[in-house]
Amino acid sequence: MSANRPAAVVVLAAGEGTRMKSKTPKVLHEIAGRSLVGHVVSAARELEPEHLVVVVGHAREQVKGHLEAHYTGTRTAVQEEQNGTGHAVRMALEELGKTPDGTVVVVCGDTPLLSGETLKALAGTHAADGNAVTVLTAEVPDSTGYGRIVRDAAGAVTAIVEHKDASAEQLAIREINSGVFAFDGKLLAEALGQVRTDNSQGEEYLTDVLSILREAGHRVGASVAGDHREILGINNRVQLAEARALLNQRLLERAMMGGVTVVDPASVFIDVTVTFEADAVVLPGTQLLGATHIAEDAVVGPNSRLKDTRVGKGARVDNTVSDTAVVGEGASVGPYAYLRPGTNLGAKAKAGTYVEMKNATIGEGTKVPHLSYVGDATIGEYTNIGAASVFVNYDGEAKHHTTVGSHCKTGSDNMFVAPVTIGDGAYTAAGSVITKDVPAGALAVARGQQRNIEGWVARKRPGSAAAQAAQVASEDSASES
Ligand code: UD1
Ligand code: MG
Repeated sequence: MSANRPAAVVVLAAGEGTRMKSKTPKVLHEIAGRSLVGHVVSAARELEPEHLVVVVGHAREQVKGHLEAHYTGTRTAVQEEQNGTGHAVRMALEELGKTPDGTVVVVCGDTPLLSGETLKALAGTHAADGNAVTVLTAEVPDSTGYGRIVRDAAGAVTAIVEHKDASAEQLAIREINSGVFAFDGKLLAEALGQVRTDNSQGEEYLTDVLSILREAGHRVGASVAGDHREILGINNRVQLAEARALLNQRLLERAMMGGVTVVDPASVFIDVTVTFEADAVVLPGTQLLGATHIAEDAVVGPNSRLKDTRVGKGARVDNTVSDTAVVGEGASVGPYAYLRPGTNLGAKAKAGTYVEMKNATIGEGTKVPHLSYVGDATIGEYTNIGAASVFVNYDGEAKHHTTVGSHCKTGSDNMFVAPVTIGDGAYTAAGSVITKDVPAGALAVARGQQRNIEGWVARKRPGSAAAQAAQVASEDSASES
């Protein structure tokens, strides 16, 4: 348990986020595989607070449902009307019932880049300095829209003034309020009772607590964030994309520092939940999503999208789309393959060019090299499936399974009409439509016999280029013999 474990973290997420122009509430927009509020809750959890309360208001059922589904252990407090950040924190304290005895950290639900380390550093400074309130601030290139940090001649923070309430002189201040605070719980509760609404927005500003506490003689501190980009608040879709890019860069840097080669970080996108082993290689134009894992010496890309896919050691995945699949050690996928849920490729197996697989278990060393669909199938080891084969799994009503044994060689352009079983070591002829089980070691031939009608072209297409070519060919063979 951390020494500075707060009594509570309050996440403010009641606002609508009108500037997103979206039917989805702002805090449920996603970057890198996680909602905005999910990023904030994840960072907050690193503080191991006794209570984690998210203040919900706009689209509260949707936000609440999302939190319950993905972030168990978080509580929600309802703010019926969005009367300001101070009012929102009041609602959170009411939800807790008893005023928290200890530190209360407040964060906004729309700052997804905020890290757990920064929150811990803030809580640490707050405790070490014995402050009543410590605000996380940052120097930003453009402070438009943010609350400005006002300091006195000695450099001590005296107030936070909202953009809309600031004088021309205050507007020039580049140090801004990140919206993240550590408070003494008891003093916060007292001060919130004194916050007024005589400002340009007619709201209860949380930021006013700072000057109220200072005027009452309490210690007020500020902690300046090392990287101002971390406190980027998302208010519109331009900022959403900006945050996505920054987070992606952070995730890729972490992967690269861990030994992963990323040839072109600008064209690779990964989710927060993706994991790698050292010496994995990611080629340009690749998206790795969800619980995807790339093992040592595996090479993924270019131009691939892998979701919830495990790529084994030394495997090669080229120009592939994959969802919920397992690629075994040393296996080869693509170029231009599509692995759908339930694909499990064994070690050294191959799903080659223009190959689609679904709910298919492919044994070690088995190859499906070209232009095929393998759905609802189990294939043994070291079998070769001929080009342009289809596992005919659907009769229009239900899906059926095909089983192919080990060391089989199936011909090109085969249809395996499920349910059907091909025994170990069996062969099938090219162009066969396999509707009956094939015993082990048998050759199955299931196609029409070829019939040649001699002289048909000369009789039916006289004078054509084809007839002339045939004539030349027959004269040539006559003179040769
Ligand atoms: C707020 C701060 C500002 C700071 C900025 C940082 C105040 C008064 N202003 O301004 O100093 O620089 O954040 O990004 O605190 N919310 C509620 N209920 C409400 C109002 C807001 O839950 O009644 C939530 C919003 O959903 C959002 C957060 O509080 O997650 C901040 O609200 P927002 O309207 O974005 O405040 P800013 O104008 O950005
Ligand atoms: Mg904001």
